[in-house]
Parts: sequence; C-alpha cells; structure tokens
Amino acid sequence: MKKPHYQVITAESAGFCFGVQKAVDAVCKEIARGEKIHTYGPIIHNERVVSDFEKKGVRVVETPEEIDGLTGGTLVIRSHGVSKERFEQIQSSRVRCIDATCPFVKRIHRIVEEESAKGAQIVIIGNAGHPEVEGIMGWSSTPAAVIGKAEEAESYRGDPERPVCVVSQTTFQVEKFNELIAILQKRRYNMSIVNTICNATRERQEEARRIAKIADVMIVIGGRTSSNSAKLYEICRKECPNTFFIQTVEDLALELTGEEKVIGITAGASTPKNIIEEVQNHVRDGKF
Ligand code: F3S
Repeated sequence: MKKPHYQVITAESAGFCFGVQKAVDAVCKEIARGEKIHTYGPIIHNERVVSDFEKKGVRVVETPEEIDGLTGGTLVIRSHGVSKERFEQIQSSRVRCIDATCPFVKRIHRIVEEESAKGAQIVIIGNAGHPEVEGIMGWSSTPAAVIGKAEEAESYRGDPERPVCVVSQTTFQVEKFNELIAILQKRRYNMSIVNTICNATRERQEEARRIAKIADVMIVIGGRTSSNSAKLYEICRKECPNTFFIQTVEDLALELTGEEKVIGITAGASTPKNIIEEVQNHVRDGKF
C-alpha cells in the first residue's frame, strides 16, 4: 500500500472520558445480568451506541410520567445527572436506580445545593437547555441564572444584597468561561467563582488546539447533539479553517490537494474507540 503524503495525529485524549465510560459500563453490566434496563435520556450523545443498546433491550425513558409508569427493572441516570426533584422521584419509584452521574457533576450539585441554601444566587456558566445544566439548576433552592454568551453576562442583574456563586457546565470552553467571568466581575458583586470545568474537558480542548495549530486538515468526531464535541469543533476551526465535524467515517468527504503535511483527529467525550479507529484507519489508508 502506498504511504500517504501526510502524517496522521490522533489526540490521546480523544473519546470516552471517565464519566461516560462509567455510565456505559453500568449499562453493559446490567445487560449482562439480564435485567430490564432503562436509561433516563439517551445514555450518551452517540446514535450508534444508543441504537446498539436498544437492540439489546435498553429502553430510553424521557419524561417524569414515564418513570412513574415503570413497574420494575433498573433505571440508569446518565453521566449528565438530573435535578434533585427527578433524583428523588427515581429513588422512590418502583425501579432500581443506578446513579451513573459523573462525580464531577455531583460535586456541582452539592455546591449549588449548599450555596443556595446559604442564600447565594446561583449563576451557571453553560448552555441553557443542555441536560447537565438543567440538572444543575434543579439543585438550587432559588431560581438559577444560566449565562452562555457575552450579551447574557452583560445583561445579568443579580440582587446586589445577596452573594453570587458561579459554577460552570463541566464541558464548557475554558477561554469563554474566563471571558464571561471577566464581564461579571466588572459589576463587583460579592461573587465566589468555582471553575467546575472538568479536567478531562480541559485536557481534551488543549490537546485539540495544539494539534489543530499544526494540522492542515482537522477532523472532529462527535454526536450531532454533543455540546462538548461542538466546542471542540469551534476550538479547532479557529486554529485550522479546514476542520470537519463528523459523526462516523461515512460522513467524511475529504478532498486533499496533495500538499497536506498533517491531518489531525480528535473526538468528543461520547465517541467510542471503534468509531475513532475507523476514521483513523480510513485516513491512514488514504482512501479518498
Ligand atoms: Fe465527567 Fe468530565 Fe466526562 S464531568 S462525564 S469526566 S467530561
């Protein structure tokens, strides 16, 4: 086979993080036990994994009403976690609960619960509507604000009499977090900031940036609805305009000029190893 004219660099941090691996392992273990299994929401943002699990009998439950309707089996809470209300509902339902909430997300729940109980206003730096953010909001005893953009930070008006406690979605972009904090700090609130972006995210973003800087083509593999993959794409595109966002090797339509020296590959936290390997082998074989 002819050697390609470029070098392929795959990020070491690409793929499942510790929290996602733990959640997927929990489901696999239950399948092996032959239990009736449900997950609250798709276990990870990856269509192939979710549909493989479906074929093995894993059912996705989407609403509180569906939880009430369950009569047995197990329900796995995914790594994103859930609100306090949902957590208590699952605990008191007729199913056995397996809580696969990532410990880093659990820590945020604890901070938000304790700080809001002490009277602080909670601000979450993150994407409104993301299940992890929704879950975090649900541990605050008073309404929490979500800030994901500079305009939202500019227009945030907290109660000047009460302290503000800021946390972040675990997969938020580090640079953007710092930018939003700087805007909030100008207001001089009595503000405590806990940067809860997890290390796996930080390392993945830094490595992606490093590779994208030297790459002529960059490939980001991730689910359509995966926010950490979308952020990786954003980071890589800044450094390498020739960045592609794909779900699987089937989406990859590379047209090379023959001048490329480096092709970089990274993947979001919910991308399984076999999908990364398929892309990597495809690129290494130069099958275009
Ligand atoms: Fe947990 Fe970080 Fe993954 S918070 S789920 S280890 S991205």
